Amino acid sequence: IRTIGVLTSGGDAQGMNACIRAVTRSALNKGIRVMGIRKGYNGLLRGDIVEMTAGSVADIIHRGGTILYTARCPEFLEPDNQKRASEMCKVFGIDGLVVIGGDGSFRGAKDVSKFGINVVGIPGTIDLDIACTDYTIGFDSAVNVVMDAISRLRDTSASHERCSVVEVMGRHCGEIALWAGLATGADAIMIPEDKESADFERVVRIILENRARGKNHNIIIVSEGVGGSQELAKRIHEVTGIDSRTTILGHIQRGGRPTALDVKHASMMGVYAVELLAKGETDRVVAYKNGQYVDYDIDEALAMHRDVSMDIWKANVDISTY
Ligand code: F6P
Repeated sequence: IRTIGVLTSGGDAQGMNACIRAVTRSALNKGIRVMGIRKGYNGLLRGDIVEMTAGSVADIIHRGGTILYTARCPEFLEPDNQKRASEMCKVFGIDGLVVIGGDGSFRGAKDVSKFGINVVGIPGTIDLDIACTDYTIGFDSAVNVVMDAISRLRDTSASHERCSVVEVMGRHCGEIALWAGLATGADAIMIPEDKESADFERVVRIILENRARGKNHNIIIVSEGVGGSQELAKRIHEVTGIDSRTTILGHIQRGGRPTALDVKHASMMGVYAVELLAKGETDRVVAYKNGQYVDYDIDEALAMHRDVSMDIWKANVDISTY
């Protein structure tokens, strides 16, 4: 491998910059050139590509977002465009590609590799929804943003004796809700993967039982994938008479300084990805599994299934009883 291209794709995540830095510096130290591809696969199609130096990734290790910008690129589903992208790689001398993103981004990488470019994916998403890995870059930072927000909400919720319904991100995946719910002592956690968790009557029962035991406020975490968080607060008020408010945390969960855990995983995965490409490997996804960095074939990784952490949900049911 003589030149590695690096891009970020899909939703951004804290730690992506640390990962770009690791890819760039470790490749340069191996004598490999590095090209930064901007705006995900869009930049690859349009040739929005810049040469990276050790200096171009200085002072970004602690910054959220991605200096390479990111985008979703529906055009990339068309085989003609995949071929065009591989031709663009050749124009810039790129023979290895590191893609930091989620499952959709890995599918795109696979499509480029069909035309002779070696590719490696790195899991970057706050959602922790990539089956082959126990960790995705950005997750810990997002959970910590939620924790911080809820500690603030708790103050005002307790002062007014309210029920706070907090909607957290995770379009299809309840991990942020589960971790944040456990970490903040939420009364209930509602996730899309489990019907019982999202049952309205169950949540109302918990609120009323905890109030009957003397609790004066409540926190209900709703994962985005469950939906209807505004409506939920209204219904809780109608049924229980308890003043309820919804807070949708939204994109603030994707911003801010990455935590140490995110910078660590981002850096280690970046170095690992470059090592794979330097060895001539292709079609691999870097993963963190059972405490070790490993890699899987992209197709194998995409076919894997991972259950949501119901052990966290059950533990929270046990310990959130007032
Ligand atoms: O990054 C993943 C995620 O945050 C999902 O949880 C969420 O549904 C989605 O991205 C929203 O992203 P956007 O608004 O950028 O499309």
